[in-house]
Amino acid sequence: MDSEQTLIVIKPDGFRRHLTGRILARFEEKGLQIKNLTSFNFTIEKAREFYELHRDKAFFNDLVKFISAGQVVACILEGANAIAVVRLMIGTTKSFEAAPGTIRGDFGLGITDNIIHASDSYESFIKESRVIFDRT
Ligand code: CMP
Repeated sequence: MDSEQTLIVIKPDGFRRHLTGRILARFEEKGLQIKNLTSFNFTIEKAREFYELHRDKAFFNDLVKFISAGQVVACILEGANAIAVVRLMIGTTKSFEAAPGTIRGDFGLGITDNIIHASDSYESFIKESRVIFDRT
C-alpha cells in the first residue's frame, strides 16, 4: 500500500486537558509522520464549513459551538493506510463505547466532546484540509 495522508483535529477538550503531546506521540510511535502541525481557534463560519456533512443533523449547532469554543491542534498524518489506521486508533464516536487502547477509549466519555476528529475517507480528507489550511 502506498503512503496515504489523513487529517486529525485534537478538539478543545483534548487541548484543554493537555492531551496533545500524548496523542501525537501515539501516532508517531505507530510510524505515522506528522506534517503541517498547527494550532488555532475555529471561527463559527469555519466550523460550519468543516462539519458541513453534518449540517442536517440534530447535533450540528452544538457541535459547531463546541469545536469553536477553544483552541484546537490539527495536523496531517502520513503513512501506509493512514486513513483506516488513524480511524482505528481514535476509536468509535461515542467515547464511552470506544475500546480501551483507542484514544477515545482511554481518554474520555463524551460524544460531542470526544477529544479528536479524524477524516473518515479520502474525500473528507481533501475537503477538511481545504477548510483548515485554506487550500483552494
Ligand atoms: P467527529 O468524529 O468529529 O465527527 C462528527 C462529530 O459529531 C462527532 O465526532 C461527535 O463529536 C459529534 N456528535 C455529536 N452528537 C453525535 C451523535 N449523536 N452521533 C454522532 N456524532 C455526534
